[in-house]
Amino acid sequence: MTDVKLYSGESIPLEMHKAKIIQKLNLVPIDHRLEAISEAGNNTFLLKNRDVFLDMLTDSGVNAMSDQQLSAMMIADDSYAGSETFYRMESKIQELFNKKFFLPAHQGRACENILCQVFVTPGSIVPMNYHFTTTKAHIVLNGGRVEEIFIDEALQVTSNNPFKGNMDIEKLEALIEQHGADKIPFVRLEAGTNLIGGQPHSLENMRQIRRVCDQAGLLLVLDASLLADNLHFIKTREEGCREKSIREITREISDLCDIMYFSARKLGCARGGGICTNNEEVYLKLRELVPLLEGFLTYGGMSVREMEAITVGLEETMDEDMVNQGPQFIDFMITELQKKEVPVVTPAGGLGCHIDASAFLPHLDRTEYPSGALASALYLVSGIRGMERGTMSEQREENGEETIAHMELLRLAMPRRVFTMSHIKYAVDRIAWLYQNRDLVGGLTFVEEPKILRFFFGKLATTSDWQTKLVAKFKEDFGESP
Ligand code: F0G
Repeated sequence: MTDVKLYSGESIPLEMHKAKIIQKLNLVPIDHRLEAISEAGNNTFLLKNRDVFLDMLTDSGVNAMSDQQLSAMMIADDSYAGSETFYRMESKIQELFNKKFFLPAHQGRACENILCQVFVTPGSIVPMNYHFTTTKAHIVLNGGRVEEIFIDEALQVTSNNPFKGNMDIEKLEALIEQHGADKIPFVRLEAGTNLIGGQPHSLENMRQIRRVCDQAGLLLVLDASLLADNLHFIKTREEGCREKSIREITREISDLCDIMYFSARKLGCARGGGICTNNEEVYLKLRELVPLLEGFLTYGGMSVREMEAITVGLEETMDEDMVNQGPQFIDFMITELQKKEVPVVTPAGGLGCHIDASAFLPHLDRTEYPSGALASALYLVSGIRGMERGTMSEQREENGEETIAHMELLRLAMPRRVFTMSHIKYAVDRIAWLYQNRDLVGGLTFVEEPKILRFFFGKLATTSDWQTKLVAKFKEDFGESP
């Protein structure tokens, strides 16, 4: 993206790339969408892509790849052990992150599985700025628990704080003091904090966390899956960082942590993952599990073609035009939605546009899953697939009680370099229409509820015939238009 002044005075994000390969989209009629969402149990994860117009479920594994990435895939060295592809990837990781040891894994949660199996034991406490669903699940599975030590503003939907993903340093110190460092296998910092709306942490905050970890003798683990967005925000929002290059900021961040892991479905715009460190002892411990759970050390469950694409993708992440594309499109969408008074998370973060479902649907109880209901309703009126990021994404307590999520959000992810301005305008229009007709949207209730990560494949029913009424109103206002 670049800042170009338009003669009209209007400011729009301008893409610094062009489409070379396209995929045809379908916008099926609303009656078909009603059938599709009912069949999917009102869970957008269960929709078939053929019924989806704009897939804003996630930015994971669906970012557009560059011509350079595609061509690199052709030189992949397909061998079980000792592949040249691995050495190219390893040396890119060493160059960008200054980490000597690299372990490949098939995606982000696979890295979490390995880290948690090695470090987390019953009674462990893992402090972090905020949890991610898969991270928490792996910590809990190994008998540990998560302690979130976010700053107070993290959960305020609207705020001017540029770094809502920061850790509260005093609370971190108090937590270590209270439980003792022995109980803490590592401190985890998540770049571009996913579940609170893709909110970044600052470089300064990370320096402070490092100091606390050094004093207590603790390892600092960075989840760098959403590092690209975080790099953009550090460069544009943090005092003293405007003059630094993305490469320099990346290096400073990686030098501050002991272990860095990432989902390359996000970072690097392909499909895979990995863990890197300079700590040989840590490396040797983690290494044992890679062939057991993932694959041999030179592919770790990834296709070598994807590995080549990641290597190029990581290098491309050092390009400002690349890392600012997502955040600037998201910022544009948030600004347009605000003009229409739709409640959104501010400041605009990375990953996607986050709508505050509790403010959008204040008449719904949190146990009726407002974010899930909003995701279902938005698909119905637009063919846009978003993701519930609220109470439905939490796990029920052992006693059957709901865990009410801190924030009740509908996430509309913005895969990098995928959508056009007219797609965004269409999305804004349909969301604004739905907001005008929000009273028609009712709640959901589980009919099939898995125990772990229930949001992935649980099924829900509507608590009334609200969808039929919403469809009728849609037809009244839009006629034959899909
Ligand atoms: N950490 C963060 C911050 C993530 O956002 C994700 C995935 C993971 C770890 C796990 O990585 O999917 O490669 O196993 N986030 C996806 C999302 C699922 O849609 O936000 P993975």
